[in-house]
Amino acid sequence: MTREEILYWLKNEDERSLTELWDKANDVRHSQVGDAVHLRGLLEFSNHCSRDCHYCGLRAGNSKLTRYRMSEEEIMCCVEEGVAYGYGTLVLQSGEDYGLDVDWMTKLIQRIKRETPLAVTLSLGERSAEDLTAWRDAGADRYLLRFETSDPELYRRIHPALPGHKPNRIELLRIIKKIGYETGSGVMVGIPGQTYEDLAKDIETFRELDLDMIGVGPFIPHHETLLGSDAKTPTLLAENQVPNTELMTYKVMALARLIQPLANIPATSALATLNTPTGRELGLSRGANVVMPNLTPKKYRALYEIYPAKACIDETAADCRSCMHRRIQSIGRQVGKGRGDSPSYRRA
Ligand code: 5AD
Ligand code: FES
Repeated sequence: MTREEILYWLKNEDERSLTELWDKANDVRHSQVGDAVHLRGLLEFSNHCSRDCHYCGLRAGNSKLTRYRMSEEEIMCCVEEGVAYGYGTLVLQSGEDYGLDVDWMTKLIQRIKRETPLAVTLSLGERSAEDLTAWRDAGADRYLLRFETSDPELYRRIHPALPGHKPNRIELLRIIKKIGYETGSGVMVGIPGQTYEDLAKDIETFRELDLDMIGVGPFIPHHETLLGSDAKTPTLLAENQVPNTELMTYKVMALARLIQPLANIPATSALATLNTPTGRELGLSRGANVVMPNLTPKKYRALYEIYPAKACIDETAADCRSCMHRRIQSIGRQVGKGRGDSPSYRRA
């Protein structure tokens, strides 16, 4: 796919001709990864974060947020629930929490791998090659780290670096791959300052990194962040600004499917937040083949507030399980069996 083709679709607003893009993405999804929709149980086990990203409600400077870190026993209860629900994968997600002891995390991964058949995906932010290697050796299978935008200048603007560090998630993703993880990344759509050219380059970067998993969601402003304050945002917008809409998100997901056909692509919670009744189903019909039912205990869900009004805040893990099953069946697809490893990873 050429840059021009990508830009043609990103800028196309004609609903009738867009059906061609949806159909192509759906056909490629069907022929390359099949009709199964894989379930990943998402456990948001700590909302502590040392970073100060200008888009994220978990940022260290947000003193209004009550912080939590689940204990090993609490986590294992949720893990067992995930096993009972037939999920093939557990996604352990947290803020970039340096209060998390590396050895504690290693032992937790070993225990989950010893006691369950689950594939374990980590989403713990930017960590050292040493930590990442220890967790991989402990049995973790996959790692998710969105690069958010491939434009270095925009990245720098929204993502203050740690002192003494050069910001480079893309470099870190190459390391994650080398360590042997099945590797996932992705971007937010409609970040203030993001141009169509930036977004087209993001999509090409999915291919360059040969990603096994690609997660894409709309940017949703959070009032306790710099990019969430309406008064300030207009000055940050690009001349050729990408809108943070549902439609634009589907376009990026569909193009991700076309450019990286074997990747596992989720219909994300951020998408479901913009359109709770049908966002996930539309995502699944326009390239996606994965959903991530939430396993986080209800008392913590509202505190994992990356962005406001997140989908599933008032639901329990059992609610999300039946909701996802119903949604998958309603569009004539089947719940995936087993771990749902990415065929691109198996190929490598
Ligand atoms: N809106 C949408 N997505 C967000 N994320 C973080 N903050 C926001 C926001 N305000 C996404 C980022 C991050 C993932 C865990 O959540 O892409 O990588
Ligand atoms: Fe959580 Fe639908 S997936 S309620």
